[in-house]
Amino acid sequence: MQRLHGPGALRLVKENFGMASFDPGLADVVAAETRLSHVDGAAGELIIGGYRLEQLAAEATYEEVAYLLWHGRLPTAEELARFQEAAAHYRALPPLTGEVLRQAAENRSAPIDALRMAAATFDLGLEAADGLARANGNNGNLAENGAAPAILARMASAVATYGRLQVGLSPVAPDANLGHAANLLYMLEGVAPEPKRARALEIYLITVSEHGLNASTFAARVIAATGSDLVSAITGALGALKGPLHGGAPGPALDMVFEIGEASRAEEVLRAKLAQGERLMGFGHRVYKVRDPRADVLAAAAEQLLAHGEGKALYDLAKAVEATALRVLAEVKPGRKLDTNVEYFTALLLHGLGLNTDMFTPVFAAGRTVGWIAHCYEQAATGRIIRPQARYVGEVLDAWTPRAAR
Ligand code: ACO
Repeated sequence: MQRLHGPGALRLVKENFGMASFDPGLADVVAAETRLSHVDGAAGELIIGGYRLEQLAAEATYEEVAYLLWHGRLPTAEELARFQEAAAHYRALPPLTGEVLRQAAENRSAPIDALRMAAATFDLGLEAADGLARANGNNGNLAENGAAPAILARMASAVATYGRLQVGLSPVAPDANLGHAANLLYMLEGVAPEPKRARALEIYLITVSEHGLNASTFAARVIAATGSDLVSAITGALGALKGPLHGGAPGPALDMVFEIGEASRAEEVLRAKLAQGERLMGFGHRVYKVRDPRADVLAAAAEQLLAHGEGKALYDLAKAVEATALRVLAEVKPGRKLDTNVEYFTALLLHGLGLNTDMFTPVFAAGRTVGWIAHCYEQAATGRIIRPQARYVGEVLDAWTPRAAR
C-alpha cells in the first residue's frame, strides 16, 4: 500500500494479491471443472454429456438430455419413463405462480421479466425446496428429486402460460401424455402440435441445453456454491440470461433478414451497415472462431420446418443473406474469423414455430434450464464457495469531513 502525505491526506491503495492476476471479463480464467459440456471454439465442436451435439440433436429427446446431464449417463427405457412421469407430474403451475404471471401480463411485463418473477415461486408446494442440500451425497436420485424436475417442468409451463396471457388468452392445462417440447407448444397454442413442429422445438431445446461456463450458468454456479437452493440459483441465472450480451439478442438477427427483404439487396444493405460501424447480428462469437456447430444443427431443423410456401421463401432468403454476410465480413473484417453463430438460425427456427420475438429468450431459458440445474449440482458437490478478489482502485481518506462542511 502506498501512502500519500499532505493535507486531507489521501492514500492510494495498491493491493498485493500475490499470484492472482486481474482478468476483466474472466475470459482466460478457468473457474470450474465440468463433465457437462466441452465447447471447442477452434474446432467448432460442442460435446454435451460426452456426446456430439449433432448426435444428440438427431437421436435424443430433451428428457434424455436432461437425464444425461443430471446423471452422467443415458437412462434405460425404464428410467426414462420414470423420469418423464416425474417431470410431467409437476407441469401444472402452483396457483400463486399463475397469479404472478397474470399480474405480470396486466402490467405488460416483458416475457423474460414475467418468467423471472414466476421462477422465484417454482418451489411452492415442494417438500424439498433446498434440492441442492438434499442432493449433496444423494446425487444418484437427482432425476426424482422434487426441485429439479419441478423446475424443469414449471419453466416450460410458465413460458407457455405467459405466451398466452400476454396476448389476452387463457392458460391451457398441461397434457401429461405429451413429451416436454410437445407439451410446451400445446400449452402455448391450445392444440396438440404436429410431430414435425414438436420435434423442431425439441431440437432447439437440446441445442441450447448446455454450453460451458456461459454468463447465466456461471451466475447459477456462484449462487449454488454458497449452499443456497436450486430455485434461487435458477432465478439468478434468468437475470443473467436476459441481457443482450447473452440471451437477449436473437430478435435482431431476424429483423436484419426482414429489413433486407430480398436476396438481391443483401450486399448493399450489409455493406452499408458495416460502413456505419454496425455489427451484423448472428455473426461472430467470443469462443467459436469457426462456424458455431449449433448454427448447422438449427439450420437443418429450420430447413425441415420451413419446407414450403412463405416459410421456404424466408429460409432461402436467410441462407442467401448468410452467404453474402460471410463473404462481405471476410472482406471488410479480414482475419477476425467471423462466422455464423447460434442466434442466426435460432431466430429463423423460433419464428418458423410461430413464436413472437419477445418469446425467444424465455424459450432459450426453458432449454438452458437442464444445464443450469446440472451445473448447480456439480458446483454444490465441490463444497467450495466461488469468491474471487477485487482490486481496489479508490482512495483511503485520513480526514473525516463533518457533514456541514461537505
Ligand atoms: N459484425 C461485424 N463486425 C464484427 C462482428 C459482427 N457481428 N462481430 C465482431 N466484429 C468485429 C468487431 O467490430 C471487431 O473489429 P475490429 O477489430 O475492427 O474492432 C472484431 O470483429 C472483434 O470483435 P470483438 O467485439 O472483440 O469480438 P468479441 O469476441 O468480443 O465479440 C460478439 C463477440 C459479441 C458475439 C460479437 O461477434 C458480436 O457483437 N456479434 C453480433 C451480435 C450477436 O450475434 N450476438 C449473439 C452471439 S451468440 C451468443 O452469445 C449466444
